Amino acid sequence: MRIGAGGFADALSRGRDVVVVDAVLRHLVPERDAPVLVIEASEDAKTLAGCEELILALRGAGVRRWDHVLAVGGGVVQDIATFVTQVYMRGVSWTYVPTTLMAMVDSCIGGKSSINVGDVKNLIGGIYPPDSVIVDPVFLPSLSPTARAAGFCEAAKIAYCRGADEFRGYLERFDRFDTDPAALIEHVLRAKRWFIEIDEHDHKERRLLNFGHTFGHALETAVDHTLSHGLAVAVGVLCAIQHPASASGDSVDELEAHCRALLASASGVAESLALFDPERFESAFRADKKHGTSTFRLILPAADGGVTEVETGTTADDWAAVAKATRRTLDSLTGRPA
Ligand SMILES: NC(=O)c1ccc[n+]([C@@H]2O[C@H](COP(=O)([O-])OP(=O)(O)OC[C@H]3O[C@@H](n4cnc5c(N)ncnc54)[C@H](O)[C@@H]3O)[C@@H](O)[C@H]2O)c1
Repeated sequence: MRIGAGGFADALSRGRDVVVVDAVLRHLVPERDAPVLVIEASEDAKTLAGCEELILALRGAGVRRWDHVLAVGGGVVQDIATFVTQVYMRGVSWTYVPTTLMAMVDSCIGGKSSINVGDVKNLIGGIYPPDSVIVDPVFLPSLSPTARAAGFCEAAKIAYCRGADEFRGYLERFDRFDTDPAALIEHVLRAKRWFIEIDEHDHKERRLLNFGHTFGHALETAVDHTLSHGLAVAVGVLCAIQHPASASGDSVDELEAHCRALLASASGVAESLALFDPERFESAFRADKKHGTSTFRLILPAADGGVTEVETGTTADDWAAVAKATRRTLDSLTGRPA
């Protein structure tokens, strides 16, 4: 892992690597002898059909199993690159250069791929970490305020999951992000790495990082994927805070205020939430792969300032608690009376 300016330029200087790049960043990759393949990053590309397209492009460019792929883009490019490099000729090595704040602070470590199938987001995937990750702040200035907010939402969530001190440390670094982005990125990645090292295979502690995701993923489906993942996670965090089994306290209040401020700085949140379809939400929520066979597994704020896993049943009352927490949150964000 390398964090700092100049990393992307150094990576490009390895002229034999096959570059797979987000279409909007294609202009940053000079012409070279090795192939440069482009991905139009969207949830529609993050499908088996999208992966097949890249596999055929690699094949068409004559890429062999001993070649090396340099993937440059946000979480969509990362998910496709992780999945495809794992299976192309039974595995080619790769390097990842995250280009969104979300990917820099969150998805770039952990090695997971998540591919959408049918209406279900992130239904399939594998684990195939890159040989190295190069985090270069050169990509930050071109991000929209909304994309920045989405990245901060994920960052805040990770820091909060690690505990009250880490969340306070995150807020300090957030205030000086524009002059020192690496400090926040390093802080959050260190917090995330703790979860991965202690529980690589998602059996216990790492599951806590799903804070905001059980609500957030279902919400993404319910608003027809018009809300970006990071923003949906922040709304999901607010829903989790509203759940009756959630603890309260100063730390929860600080998290709530921060998520609300980030959502207010993004464009289009209320418009997306106005599309909310309760039936799609319920079926996506119930189908979440993190639940037990007859239990909802929710990650909720804990009394000590971190988060904890709470298991409830799936009865009408249990569902009503989820639906009410979600409705109250959406009403507060769309300006409807609670
Ligand atoms: N595999 C994992 O561990 C993991 C973790 C979290 C999220 N994800 C997935 O990541 C995806 C979201 O990724 P994301 O938030 O990084 O965004 P993204 O990859 O969807 O990109 C969002 C938009 O920003 C553009 N973009 C990318 N970099 C840019 C830059 N530097 N300047 C200007 N525009 C840029 C893209 O072209 C796209 O239009 C979701 O599909 C989510 O499920 C995966």
